[in-house]
Amino acid sequence: MDWKIVDAGASGCDDAAELHTLSWKSAYRGIVSDKYLDEDCAADRRAFWAARAKEWDPAKILLLIARRDDGLVLGMSCAVTEAEPEFGVLLDNLHVRPDLKRGGIGRALIAATGRWVAARAPGSAMYLYAYRDNAIAVPFYRRMGGEEADAGMYTFKDGTSAPILRFTWRDPAKIAG
Ligand SMILES: CC(C)(COP(=O)(O)OP(=O)(O)OC[C@H]1O[C@@H](n2cnc3c(N)ncnc32)[C@H](O)[C@@H]1OP(=O)(O)O)[C@@H](O)C(=O)NCCC(=O)NCCS
Repeated sequence: MDWKIVDAGASGCDDAAELHTLSWKSAYRGIVSDKYLDEDCAADRRAFWAARAKEWDPAKILLLIARRDDGLVLGMSCAVTEAEPEFGVLLDNLHVRPDLKRGGIGRALIAATGRWVAARAPGSAMYLYAYRDNAIAVPFYRRMGGEEADAGMYTFKDGTSAPILRFTWRDPAKIAG
């Protein structure tokens, strides 16, 4: 399978919304409510990415899309510089198509995002949040060398509360791709 990672900019937001929905419906099943996933998720993610596209500033946000040569979106990652600067640059979404997990796409995306962070904000860490019960993402972030810390409980938009972890990479350029 031939694919590459592209810096998609605001024009990638529709693709990001679609993959985000597909991925949450799979990965968040059992963590957030079925009602949200089955009834609200698609519209909610479309609204989220439309808002992001509207206020796009390429100095402050990166959207990478992994795309197969025939156009299929395989994965995406997004980083934002100004969420919680005390922790560094936030990796706010990393998703691989559910049917193509474990093929090295997530690793390539997180490494490429780390290189962008190092270039855009030298000396800054990169961090993200993950549900403690996300049985795939947590081992993945550990394997990618993230330092983990409890970050309390997170209340999702549907009212569901669950414990989350914060993963930090102090030198994001060194994440092995
Ligand atoms: C987390 C995610 C991005 C990882 O992407 P991926 O392309 O599947 O992962 P990779 O193939 O690059 O895996 C790299 C390494 O991480 C580890 N890893 C990945 N998936 C794993 C799993 N299910 N169990 C244990 N280790 C795992 C392995 O060490 C793997 O290397 P290996 O396959 O050579 O052993 C992907 O599973 C995903 O999109 N999950 C759903 C969405 C999600 O939860 N995103 C995170 C929100 S915080």
